[in-house]
Amino acid sequence: MEKTFLMVKPDGVQRNLIGDITSRFEKKGYKLVGAKLMTIKQALAEEHYGEHSDKPFFGELVGFITSGPVFAMVWEGENVIATARQMMGATNPKDATTGTIRGDYGVTVGKNVIHGSDSSESAEREINLFFDESELIPYQKDNLTWVY
Ligand code: TYD
Ligand code: MG
Repeated sequence: MEKTFLMVKPDGVQRNLIGDITSRFEKKGYKLVGAKLMTIKQALAEEHYGEHSDKPFFGELVGFITSGPVFAMVWEGENVIATARQMMGATNPKDATTGTIRGDYGVTVGKNVIHGSDSSESAEREINLFFDESELIPYQKDNLTWVY
């Protein structure tokens, strides 16, 4: 089953949005298979956001993501990578539709509340970057027979 990496950013943690955000994915019908509150070190932040290393906002982005605890998660489900991106909304909250996470809670692009993998390649890369195999918990959820 497909998996994606999602992360409540430092602004979302400070603004008490962990519960709301996890609740949205639970209610949708996805399965949480790993989660942890953590502080991201500089090297991990630079690797995670490596594709943006040439961008003018890179320094600010790394500074922000390392500025306080984040809530890192792995979610599993059919088409979860693309659907989670839809549930997050556009990168810039000013363009994000109401009803999406960024549309409901974000104001500026620099503090847009949540990260989510954008492809199967980035999902695999990011899950491996943030989680050990032993931190991903295999289990059955019987209510999923009412989702699929
Ligand atoms: P990006 O990967 O383009 O967006 P997404 O998070 O939707 O995958 O950019 C990574 C993060 O960089 C983005 O969530 C917020 C920050 N960012 C800026 O601060 N300024 C910008 O102009 C852009 C495009 C992104
Ligand atoms: Mg991205």
